[in-house]
Amino acid sequence: MRDQAERLRQLARGYQKAAPKSPIIKQSESRARVITVTSGKGGVGKTNLTVNLALALAKLGQKVLIIDADLGLANVEFVLGLTPKYNLLNLLDGGYDINDVVMDGPRGIKFMSGGSGIYQLANLSDAQVQKIIGEVVLFDSWANIILIDTGAGLHRNVLNFVMAADEVIIITTPEPTAIADAYAMIKAYAAHHGCAPLRLVVNRVLEAEEGQTVIDKLGKVAQRFLGVGVTNLGFVFEDPNVLKAVKSQVPVVVAHPETVSARCFDHIAQRLLYGREVNQPSGIKGFFSKFIDLIR
Ligand SMILES: Nc1ncnc2c1ncn2[C@@H]1O[C@H](COP(=O)(O)OP(=O)(O)O)[C@@H](O)[C@H]1O
Ligand SMILES: [Mg+2]
Repeated sequence: MRDQAERLRQLARGYQKAAPKSPIIKQSESRARVITVTSGKGGVGKTNLTVNLALALAKLGQKVLIIDADLGLANVEFVLGLTPKYNLLNLLDGGYDINDVVMDGPRGIKFMSGGSGIYQLANLSDAQVQKIIGEVVLFDSWANIILIDTGAGLHRNVLNFVMAADEVIIITTPEPTAIADAYAMIKAYAAHHGCAPLRLVVNRVLEAEEGQTVIDKLGKVAQRFLGVGVTNLGFVFEDPNVLKAVKSQVPVVVAHPETVSARCFDHIAQRLLYGREVNQPSGIKGFFSKFIDLIR
């Protein structure tokens, strides 16, 4: 079992070792879509969705950056089997640039640990904030999509990531408590006058109808009582390979690409890419500007 886990880790690392670290270089004038992944209840699958969706999008040719903004449980690095040395705040130290704070993951995705640095942005001077924004803006021309993995719950520091994003994905399981907490998150979003598109993923379903029932019900009550539209982004089947992948630190879409959950992640990536047109994204620069206004 141990040997197999190590073999899988080596397999995943092989993506990185095959080529030297790929630098972030300017590719276009367009702006990345900044999408925050969040939930009401903890442990419902945000981190696994973020990582596997990023990899599924990369398979479709997208350049994807993941930012781990879950301060309490920085799990993206664990699921990806990476150990970041630096975070955003290191950009203020002489000699570091954006290429030092990102890591390469499988399929060419990139990963940046927000670390505690992301919350300390509130205490920085204007010049320091501008320095950081000046560096991260390179992501707009490199990435097509930026996924931000957050913690759970209605804390202000989670909501700020939700409020500053171009789009929001809320994930829940079919459990009544998780659904109630997802509703509470949508309610908080509405109360703060959020207007970015909200999409729902139902995780750990035993059959497709279960996912459809949750989205139908939640969508209806959100529309009726909050006046908020929530669209269906898809569901993910309950799958023991998800836990196996977490244990081996190789994401399930890489370790078990044909398993039921991996196919669901592929499906969700397609919906996100080819679904309804969204507003012109404000990109990473727009995101950071809004985020800093919110936390200051
Ligand atoms: N589709 C799934 N099938 C089976 N287990 C899952 C699935 N999604 C998540 N899990 C389990 O739930 C755990 C928590 O998932 P995680 O993505 O870390 O949640 P969160 O980021 O919301 O706290 C995983 O380690 C895994 O054991
Ligand atoms: Mg998590």
